[in-house]
Amino acid sequence: MKKLDGKIAIITGGTTGIGLASAKLFAAEGARVTVTGTNPQTLATARRDLEGLAEVVASDAGSAAEIEQLARDAGARHGRVDVLFLNAGITRYGLLTAIDEQAVDESLRVNFKGPWLAVRSFAPLMPRGASIVVNTSMTHLVGRPYTGVYAATKAALASLTRTAAAELAGAGVRVNAVSPGPVDTPIHAKAGLAAGVQGWASQIPLGRVGAPDDIARVALFLASDDSSFMTGEELLVDGGMTRLLRQGG
Ligand SMILES: NC(=O)c1ccc[n+]([C@@H]2O[C@H](COP(=O)([O-])OP(=O)(O)OC[C@H]3O[C@@H](n4cnc5c(N)ncnc54)[C@H](OP(=O)(O)O)[C@@H]3O)[C@@H](O)[C@H]2O)c1
Repeated sequence: MKKLDGKIAIITGGTTGIGLASAKLFAAEGARVTVTGTNPQTLATARRDLEGLAEVVASDAGSAAEIEQLARDAGARHGRVDVLFLNAGITRYGLLTAIDEQAVDESLRVNFKGPWLAVRSFAPLMPRGASIVVNTSMTHLVGRPYTGVYAATKAALASLTRTAAAELAGAGVRVNAVSPGPVDTPIHAKAGLAAGVQGWASQIPLGRVGAPDDIARVALFLASDDSSFMTGEELLVDGGMTRLLRQGG
């Protein structure tokens, strides 16, 4: 028996990185998957990559009108949504004294307001036993220069996860978060991180950065009935970076 047999799954931000890996895994586990993104080039690449596995839809995760339309379409087509992976996210790095206001507004719009919009639009479509999985980040658990705005949006998102879990528990809908450490995806190049993600490896007790599949497998666990007695939880998936000191480090 596949873990998501017959489930209707929506993944925001599923054209690259963790969302793309999750789309492939969820489809392999029997789900009917829809992924979203905004960049025409990566949307086109994802359509080729996911042909026969998932539908790829242009939809801005931070736009109320577009998220509401996405939910209306899912409702009209399937009548329900069983799995909602709120994965779309952006990074804007900069010291708090230097980062510009537009970067702060856009980070909040995509990383925090977007998931709230999605919870508001999709919750009415989610039956008992459905699961919302949120992608936060380990960054909000430590104070680290340059990542403060991104981290703050993820802290807000972690809080939203717990409140949504409390509000939807009565309806039998679980809400949990996966909280990745550094993972090798295009997000770092988009943020202009010169050293690339591999620069983090020396700070990770397991000695490597994550692969998108490392996170997708935990998202699958949270999406599926394997985690049926969990809600309001945030699982760190960071090779030990947050909780452990590296031996000799
Ligand atoms: N990689 C890491 O080290 C790491 C660590 C902790 C947490 N995370 C979180 O993991 C999630 C996925 O990131 P990733 O690392 O896989 O990066 P990624 O490869 O850049 O993927 C981000 C995805 O989100 C989409 N997206 C961005 N803005 C969007 C918007 N406004 N509306 C809809 N889709 C949007 C992107 O598509 P378009 O560009 O086409 O819009 C892409 O599909 C993010 O929430 C990120 O914060 C990543």
